[in-house]
Amino acid sequence: MSAQFESTPWIWNDGEFIRWEDATLHVMAHVVHYGSSVFEGVRCYSTPEGPAIFRLHDHISRFFDSCRVYRMEPACTQDEMAAACHELVQRNELEECYIRPVSIRGYGAAGLNPDASPVETYVVCWPWGAYLGAVALEEGVDACVSTWNRPAPNTYPALAKAGGHYLNGQLMKMEAAANGYAEAIALSPSGLVSEGSGQNLFLVKNGILTTPEPDGTLLMGITRDSIIALARDEGIEVREEAIPRERLYTADELFFTGTASEVTPIRSVDRIQVGGGGGGAGPVTRTVQERFLRVARGIEPDPHGWRSYSADAPSADAPALAGVEVA
Ligand SMILES: Cc1ncc(COP(=O)(O)O)c(C=O)c1O
Repeated sequence: MSAQFESTPWIWNDGEFIRWEDATLHVMAHVVHYGSSVFEGVRCYSTPEGPAIFRLHDHISRFFDSCRVYRMEPACTQDEMAAACHELVQRNELEECYIRPVSIRGYGAAGLNPDASPVETYVVCWPWGAYLGAVALEEGVDACVSTWNRPAPNTYPALAKAGGHYLNGQLMKMEAAANGYAEAIALSPSGLVSEGSGQNLFLVKNGILTTPEPDGTLLMGITRDSIIALARDEGIEVREEAIPRERLYTADELFFTGTASEVTPIRSVDRIQVGGGGGGAGPVTRTVQERFLRVARGIEPDPHGWRSYSADAPSADAPALAGVEVA
């Protein structure tokens, strides 16, 4: 099997560690047909004190909220999932990685009502560098406004991170790539700026940092929340408000935030250069990007308590291994 990601030896599955190659599904699993999964994306950073998972408990809490919206009940508790994440990183001997908890509706139901399909929960991790490329973190990316809108409130629940929602993001991302852009920015059904295909978005104008307000069309990103907190720590004024599309073209600085994308500057939108042009991160973007990465990597103190080390993990019974011995 060829893939664009690096596999790791172990995957956690409902209390057991199984081999990567054994984590397979039947084609009739409900999730395959109807996108019935919820998931999280979490990053673990290498720090001087060892691997630290960034805002693990906030991610797990959002995961369980997503499950609740979709009436899914994982077999584990939040503490057990947190312990599983730490143990998985250790077993896979990774210092730094991306962690993907996912609950799926499995094999059972053929129709839309998923009640006959069991909820199966996995945690996977693998090494994953900068989502939009290491150069993008420095130089920024070219983005477009997508012809695809985000779903209206009360269609797909945007606060839930569910697999099926990402069909919308895929349309955006594929269109952007086909037209030579690295990323896409979606408008809400009312024509206001919403978010990227898998990122939130911030703009800077006259030193004020602004991001779209929660309007039921965007995910409440944990990185978004971190950037708001770090910017306020720095004395930067932050606003959450409605953003008309044209403010993308008149901003001094623009950047995406997300667990995968971290803080990625945007250097142009629809081929209009951001700010003075020349690419790269502007001063406010650079300030929050640096602080974010320094906190995540344990280079500076963690005033908000965002780093989670395995020694601090809640004690859960050591999960069993599925019929295998580990050295
Ligand atoms: C649609 C969407 N918006 C925003 C984000 C950013 O969220 P977070 O910072 O919690 O990763 C993501 C990433 O998961 C996403 O998929």
